Amino acid sequence: MKVVLGVTGSIAAYKACELVRLFVRRGDDVRVVMTAAAREFVTPLTFQTLSRNPVGIDQFALPTEWKPEHIAYADADVVVVAPATANIIAKMAHGLADDLLSSTLLATRSPVFLAPAMNDGMWDNPATQANIEMLKSRGVRFIDPDSGELACGTEGKGRFAVPEKICKAVSGI
Ligand SMILES: Cc1cc2nc3c(=O)[nH]c(=O)nc-3n(C[C@H](O)[C@H](O)[C@H](O)COP(=O)(O)O)c2cc1C
Repeated sequence: MKVVLGVTGSIAAYKACELVRLFVRRGDDVRVVMTAAAREFVTPLTFQTLSRNPVGIDQFALPTEWKPEHIAYADADVVVVAPATANIIAKMAHGLADDLLSSTLLATRSPVFLAPAMNDGMWDNPATQANIEMLKSRGVRFIDPDSGELACGTEGKGRFAVPEKICKAVSGI
């Protein structure tokens, strides 16, 4: 299965490394697309090595084939964003396409899964919840975050789901 994995700027970005390993281990062709914020947490080289494929970071990089990169990435069996920030959820809900990942998400006709990770205040914010409901009504599937200890020092909902749970949910398509 061709899996496009979007990684966004959450402290949980390092956990996406394990998710890549799980996908690769079961034979998926994994193409990672990182936002600029994600690259503050984990390097593209890490994902490139684990996924065994080049990593997409720049919408305007000269493509290796004629198709624009976001159109090439959009043509996947499934697009997964894990971890998904409050920001990418808001951008998707409103159809914004100002970087490689958001453009790919707007262009794709493939099933999309989001695994949010964020501070409990961001998660509880009515704007985030309204965005999630809007996306669910359009067929976007969510792997909900868990409750527990959060990296920001609080307790609540927003903890990135364990990679095994995400991998299993995606295999159900
Ligand atoms: C240390 C740190 C941790 C962060 N963790 C999260 C997070 O877990 N979830 C989230 O939604 N935003 C988090 N943010 C804020 C995002 O990085 C910020 O909203 C960024 O603009 C997201 O960009 P992106 O969605 O394009 O990746 C964090 C910021 C910092 C500095």
